[in-house]
Amino acid sequence: MGADSANGTLHSETTSAATYANALGAIAITADGSAFELNGDNVSYRFHVDNTTGDLLSDHFGASVTGDIPTEIPDTVNGWVNTIGRVRREFPDQGRGDFRKPAVRIRQSEGYTVSDLQYQSHTVKHGKPELPGLPATFGTEDEVSTLIVHLYDNYSSVAADLSYSIFPKYNAIVRSASITNQGEANITVESLASISVDFPYENLDMISLRGDWAREAHRERRKVEYGTQGFESSVGYSSHLHNPFLAIMDPASTESSGEVWGFSLVYSGSFSIDVEKGSQGLTRALVGLNPSQLSWSLGPGETLTSPECVAVYSDSGIGGMSRSLHRLYRKNLIKSKFAMADRPALLNSWEGLGSTYNESTIYELAKESADLGIKMFVLDDGWFGDKYPRVSDDAGLGDWVPNPRRFPDGLAHTVNSITALKAANTSTNLRFGLWFEPEMVNPNSTLYHEHPEWAVHAGKYPRTETRNQLVLNVALPEVQEFIIDAVSNILNSANISYVKWDNNRGIHEMPSPSTDHEYMLGMYHVFDALTTRFPDVLWEGCASGGGRFDPGVLQYFPQIWTSDDTDAVERITIQMGTSLAYPPSAMGAHLSAVPNQQTGRTLPVDFRGHVAMMGGSFGLELDPADIPADDKAALPALIELAEKVNPIILTGDMYRLNLPEESNWPAVQFLSEDGKQAINPNINHAAPWVKLQGLDPKATYSVDGNATYSGSVLMKIGLQFPIATDYGSKVVFFEKQ
Ligand SMILES: *[C@@H]1O[C@H](CO)[C@@H](O)[C@H](O)[C@H]1NC(C)=O
Ligand SMILES: *[C@@H]1O[C@H](CO)[C@@H](O)[C@H](O)[C@H]1NC(C)=O
Ligand SMILES: *[C@@H]1O[C@H](CO)[C@@H](O)[C@H](O)[C@H]1NC(C)=O
Ligand SMILES: *[C@@H]1O[C@H](CO)[C@@H](O)[C@H](O)[C@H]1NC(C)=O
Ligand SMILES: *[C@@H]1O[C@H](CO)[C@@H](O)[C@H](O)[C@H]1NC(C)=O
Ligand SMILES: *[C@@H]1O[C@H](CO)[C@@H](O)[C@H](O)[C@H]1NC(C)=O
Ligand SMILES: *[C@@H]1O[C@H](CO)[C@@H](O)[C@H](O)[C@H]1NC(C)=O
Ligand SMILES: *[C@@H]1O[C@H](CO)[C@@H](O)[C@H](O)[C@H]1NC(C)=O
Ligand SMILES: *[C@@H]1O[C@H](CO)[C@@H](O)[C@H](O)[C@H]1NC(C)=O
Repeated sequence: MGADSANGTLHSETTSAATYANALGAIAITADGSAFELNGDNVSYRFHVDNTTGDLLSDHFGASVTGDIPTEIPDTVNGWVNTIGRVRREFPDQGRGDFRKPAVRIRQSEGYTVSDLQYQSHTVKHGKPELPGLPATFGTEDEVSTLIVHLYDNYSSVAADLSYSIFPKYNAIVRSASITNQGEANITVESLASISVDFPYENLDMISLRGDWAREAHRERRKVEYGTQGFESSVGYSSHLHNPFLAIMDPASTESSGEVWGFSLVYSGSFSIDVEKGSQGLTRALVGLNPSQLSWSLGPGETLTSPECVAVYSDSGIGGMSRSLHRLYRKNLIKSKFAMADRPALLNSWEGLGSTYNESTIYELAKESADLGIKMFVLDDGWFGDKYPRVSDDAGLGDWVPNPRRFPDGLAHTVNSITALKAANTSTNLRFGLWFEPEMVNPNSTLYHEHPEWAVHAGKYPRTETRNQLVLNVALPEVQEFIIDAVSNILNSANISYVKWDNNRGIHEMPSPSTDHEYMLGMYHVFDALTTRFPDVLWEGCASGGGRFDPGVLQYFPQIWTSDDTDAVERITIQMGTSLAYPPSAMGAHLSAVPNQQTGRTLPVDFRGHVAMMGGSFGLELDPADIPADDKAALPALIELAEKVNPIILTGDMYRLNLPEESNWPAVQFLSEDGKQAINPNINHAAPWVKLQGLDPKATYSVDGNATYSGSVLMKIGLQFPIATDYGSKVVFFEKQ
């Protein structure tokens, strides 16, 4: 696939390996040293070298095109800024008259922050190289090709490599940048964006995902105004507050139509996203590391590599953008063997037992779970600590040994008795999962008494506690080894099939701004080591709910707990918002007891179940012994239904039919590769018409095995679902005939 071009030469070489061509006949990558093209099924990305300045100038990121495109800058544009400030730049450096936000800012030993990065040479590769120490999308030579453009600043001896990979089938371009100090003095990288796109439009909308604890991923759409608008995380993690995702779109674009560009940063630390509409009719989008937590020093010969940003183009609306990201992430980001494997219906002990339990109450809860048809029992917080037992949240984190008072016969004894249980009316043994929060330490712990220096701290400044805990400095190799050993020891000590990896506070009082990124590199090393060592464990990420729901975590963990808010009405907004960037297969979603512990709301059990089963990992978050008999009686059928829809949720294409912000009957549709679908309308009062999407208009579909309608009728007219009560809901199956 793609074309090869020798390093630095000015000729285009279409090699025999060019197996990919889109409908216009364009191959994945062409590069001749002056013009560069990346082409996918429905996308072209083009740029060229300015032959007088050596700058890389952008030409196009959008629908597929072939042939010459106009690149001359009309000299009639009126305005005050120099040419460099009114052109579309691929990797805007700073200090030479472009007054917009830069993608890179380097401070030289002399103190200058001027850069002049000029084209030197390029390389084209089939496949995609790994990013050193960072999570990254991957693919075979048939799935992805990579162009690396080498830039060099002759005045400061700084080199920059821009890496562009194209996944043609997903209309996705993945970019990262690396800076190498080829000089003799130290330099400091003060900002580094993974991607920077100058759109040739000044009338655009943007969407971001904002939130907080228990209200993650709320979709926020706004008009892009003059000046800079953006959002960031500076909490040390990707955070509840803003997700590392941005969509830019034509103001007329909707869920199902119009041009949309999606940007998703493959990173779990602090990040920054800026959108700047300038005076010259252009809008710049920058996505990358947060400059306020970087100040990265590079000695001679050293390199800093940015995380990568996935950019997808859709000409079929916001939904098209999401489906490209979902497909790419399911197949070419998540490494776990469970990425698309059916997930066991589970019961998590947290809302049922909290951290107050003993061996026998846990066993009873596991037995109740098994009797309902649950396949995996997950023991949440509270199982560890000896000298400082974890009986409340002010002690024990860091001491990853089972509490001998709660497990007098050992943890393995309890695990053995639980995994000997059979899920109701099956020969399937219950599996056992366990909660950890390995990046944290309570001052009330043996670990902290032995290693106070392991907690993140800045000299003599007080170590501010949150939830009575401190953050371990995972940038330190000895802390990485401690965590890997502690978690491995427990996983080796008993038959544990699942880990919920929590993380409940932000990082502050850092020794230096660069600690944040150093921590992330350490954390990825830990994730990589453990998931490689225990590939049969189903790993779930969590950070007070969805506080670290990002593509970086998904590289290692196939699912993430979406929110601590289990109220099904709120979950519709949270799950629909999360699905903008992330595949539903990655979302943990549980049915909990009423009144709901976070909102106090009481909802019908079917409604709670239907919303939860629209996430890839369905489960219960309750004590069956404590809930009304009617609700309990409904659970086996809901578990069975969840298991029936699960394969379609895990691998199907998702269509958001009606949004909770816009409609009183939000609905979502999943279309499987073989033509089955599940649809979940949540309807108040009315009997609205719900129109489907993405079907074959000429094919015939049965509805719940009964009536059949054409795809065109289902998409253009829709079906009516009479539902008499508030919070009624329905899961409907369509089957292509
Ligand atoms: C995308 O490209 C494919 C293959 O080139 C083509 O079949 C399809 O119609 C295109 N989709 C859109 C929405 O243009
Ligand atoms: C530089 O590029 C311009 C426009 O693309 C072209 O007209 C001109 O001939 C080029 N000059 C050189 C020296 O290649
Ligand atoms: C780079 O700098 C060297 C030494 O200062 C000079 O000889 C050379 O011409 C410069 N190259 C370019 C492309 O400016
Ligand atoms: C560069 O930084 C290193 C590490 O901080 C320091 O040891 C070294 O002296 C510095 N070199 C110069 C030339 O300033
Ligand atoms: C476990 O806790 C339950 C409920 O508090 C109590 O009835 C039971 O005696 C306890 N069992 C043990 C072995 O401590
Ligand atoms: C198991 O089978 C029994 C007997 O048929 C039935 O009463 C019970 O509801 C079933 N349990 C589940 C969880 O399906
Ligand atoms: C340590 O635990 C004790 C008793 O549980 C508690 O009172 C104290 O606040 C805890 N100390 C810290 C620093 O969390
Ligand atoms: C671990 O538990 C699972 C599920 O209960 C069971 O299938 C498996 O055989 C057990 N493995 C070991 C080594 O006991
Ligand atoms: C078919 O329709 C009938 C009558 O509405 C209903 O009772 C039955 O459950 C439907 N069949 C399926 C498979 O849903």
